[in-house]
Amino acid sequence: MHHFDLKDGALHAEGVPLDTLADEVGTPVYVYSTATLKRHYSLLRTAADAHTDALGEALIAFAVKANSNLSVLATLAKLGSGADTVSEGEIRRALAAGIPAERIIFSGVGKTDPELAFAIAVGVRQINIESGAELDRLIQVAAMMNASPAIAVRVNPNIGAGGHAKITTGGKGDKFGVPVEEAYELYARASASPHVTPVGLACHIGSQITDLTPLEAAFRVLAQMTHKLRADGHAVTRLDLGGGLGVPYSGGVNPPSPAEYVAMAARVLEGLEVEAAFEPGRLLAANAGILLTEVVQVNERSDGRRFLVLDAAMNDLMRPALYDAFHDIAPVRPREGAAMDYDVVGPVCETGDTFARDRSLPPLEAEDLVVMTGAGAYGAVMASEYNSRPLVPEVLVDGDKWAIIRARPTYEEMLDREPFADWL
Ligand code: LLP
Repeated sequence: MHHFDLKDGALHAEGVPLDTLADEVGTPVYVYSTATLKRHYSLLRTAADAHTDALGEALIAFAVKANSNLSVLATLAKLGSGADTVSEGEIRRALAAGIPAERIIFSGVGKTDPELAFAIAVGVRQINIESGAELDRLIQVAAMMNASPAIAVRVNPNIGAGGHAKITTGGKGDKFGVPVEEAYELYARASASPHVTPVGLACHIGSQITDLTPLEAAFRVLAQMTHKLRADGHAVTRLDLGGGLGVPYSGGVNPPSPAEYVAMAARVLEGLEVEAAFEPGRLLAANAGILLTEVVQVNERSDGRRFLVLDAAMNDLMRPALYDAFHDIAPVRPREGAAMDYDVVGPVCETGDTFARDRSLPPLEAEDLVVMTGAGAYGAVMASEYNSRPLVPEVLVDGDKWAIIRARPTYEEMLDREPFADWL
């Protein structure tokens, strides 16, 4: 569900025609819909609120890595969202956007000592510990600060899932979390230290998961572990269920709804009397964003291949190049005429800079605008300036209003960022 629709022959973001945005801001540009963000958040919130018996006052902690733009975070903050963060930079963004520290979770396999100290100093809700080595370092850092931060132990349940091997995190060989037995040991070690306060367990098994079975299996592992830890005399008051629920990138895929997902979690956690946390990234943001781009030219080659060359490239939207990800492509003003097959590519000098092969699209010409949908999560955040292409800007729409929420840098700004070494 999203708010990018055809009206009077042109695609709009809510009330704003996309060709207006292209004229005013230029292309390529990311465009986000406030209404879609709000809708996705409220679907999940409503689902969680229907199960407070099993999930407590569940925290929805938006995975900032999916879209860390300050205005996007502030939109979610106003709805009451928390944040799942993986770096000091993300914590700072969440705080700057108005997300209170008590709703910020700090996750990640390689948190540095200064980052841990920062998280303690600002008073985040909980630090998710991913290894024994990290627990040792956290205890040392917290001892120096005379603190005892709340921690959860991230379990690797040996249940991997997700849309691509590179985004599967819960398998045995994946770098994330610790096996069940080691988690018990870390929990006991943490309980014995005055410098950390273990409050629960966490897991996150992968991303773009379109079947509840592996998620349910992972949540059952957490539930069983809760019983065992309590039997051993430990307090377990929170379970962090991670993110991972998939979204429909194309008409064909139909992932479970947020309501089905939450109902499953409630079924598994029923009777445990814990407070649950969800860490959705893609679910909230993916379909709230599009990448708006212009056709540079159509290369009709003598061997029969037809290349649609866009002014957006792999540096602006990495997902197709990195994960062979599918994004729907649609013209802003569809022309009449029979659909044709196009290879949709960007101008970057690698064959990997291909958004789609043999994609059937209405006829297109140079200077037509097209959008790539489902680009609100893991889009702008993963962009770079490869090929010295200015970092792609971002626009937020709310009804008939729109604002540039990250401007395209000028070439002067890009060059000025790099001082010459003084011997040159
Ligand atoms: N929690 C943790 C600990 C995570 O590592 C992640 C994502 C999430 C929550 C949010 O997962 P989501 O609800 O968005 O599936 N760049 C890749 C996705 C990487 C996801 C990494 N972890 C992509 O473009 O598909």
